[in-house]
Amino acid sequence: ATHKLLLLPGDGIGVEVMEEVKKIIAWLESKGVASFAIEEDLVGGAAFDDHGESISEGAMKKAHQADAIMFGAVGGPKWDKVPYDKRPEAGLLRLRKDLDLFANLRPALCYPALADSSSLKREIVEGLDILIVRELTGGVYFGEPKIIEELPDGQQRAIDTQVYTTNEIARIARVAFELARLRKNIVHSAEKNNVMKSGVLWKQVVTKVHAEEYSDVGLEHILADNCAMQLVRNPKQFDVLVTDNLFGDILSDAASMLTGSLGMLPSASLGAEKNGKRAAMYEPVHGSAPDIAGKGLANPIAEIASFGMALRYSLGLGDIADAVDRAISRVLDQGLRTRDIAALGEKTIGTSEMGNAVLAALQKE
Ligand code: NAI
Ligand code: MG
Repeated sequence: ATHKLLLLPGDGIGVEVMEEVKKIIAWLESKGVASFAIEEDLVGGAAFDDHGESISEGAMKKAHQADAIMFGAVGGPKWDKVPYDKRPEAGLLRLRKDLDLFANLRPALCYPALADSSSLKREIVEGLDILIVRELTGGVYFGEPKIIEELPDGQQRAIDTQVYTTNEIARIARVAFELARLRKNIVHSAEKNNVMKSGVLWKQVVTKVHAEEYSDVGLEHILADNCAMQLVRNPKQFDVLVTDNLFGDILSDAASMLTGSLGMLPSASLGAEKNGKRAAMYEPVHGSAPDIAGKGLANPIAEIASFGMALRYSLGLGDIADAVDRAISRVLDQGLRTRDIAALGEKTIGTSEMGNAVLAALQKE
């Protein structure tokens, strides 16, 4: 099958790291390993400079048609004074909203060669490979009422509202169970049913979806606060961890620091299934890094690993995804380092050298 890919490099180092993914795509294609129909378009500040909007209708149309979207990063000081609804981030938010990307996947993977740069001890993180599945479009960040009001006694009162429906919980649970089948077949579900009604419903719905549709997958429930502690104490007990928007924000940021640099962290955002197809966008966790943009210093591994997730989760090419992950690991074992992952005084290489090294390692697979 030909895989429809839309590339949206964006701004700053987004453009630089996407170049390294293009090299891998070109090689896979030249070897006949996979066939791609590639489209590319502008997003963020680059799109605003071109036509005054952070993403065009044409690009949105391509996004709806793609099997997977590869996103770079958007933003930079150049667009600080652009009106709110046209600023670079608006393009990213529009993509998330229009494609209804409700499931945010953040792997926390610790490559053996970088285990000493983690905030934890080597034996705790070496070989770590967990996937946090965070609900992204519901919960307390969006629930109404969301206000600050005046009280008769002169105080103010702030109200945020945690809201989840059965369907919202069921669909994120299904994503987690399906991903678990591609991994170690075990899901941990984190909530706080001891103090929150949304936690009670969360646990009920996850339990029901599991019993009715995924009884072949293991399921454990864990209270979110205990989960935070366990992530630091013994993170390797987890494989797929599903949780709501707020807990997922915090747990995924904590987990990411088990593993090292921002330049290493990929992510995916998945939408609802329609006609047997699921909208999906893959992007590094980092931004456009204006401080190093244009200098060829960016670490392309987060973007390359994001492409690996696209191969695995959207294109059905898990074997190639495994090979990409092994190639990254091998290059790190060889001691090759971009500046962000180098120890003090260690020799460093640039973006294209790192990309070339990963490609060379992939070619030896
Ligand atoms: P940032 O992630 O762009 O950079 C933070 C720090 O990490 C910088 O020192 C940067 O040089 C370094 N860094 C990031 N990625 C790296 C890589 N691949 N290799 C080596 N070093 C790397 O976050 P910051 O500085 O807060 O934001 C810069 C711009 O990016 C802003 O306009 C912000 O709005 C935007 N941004 C965009 C995101 C997106 O497109 N999804 C996400 C986060 C920020
Ligand atoms: Mg966060």
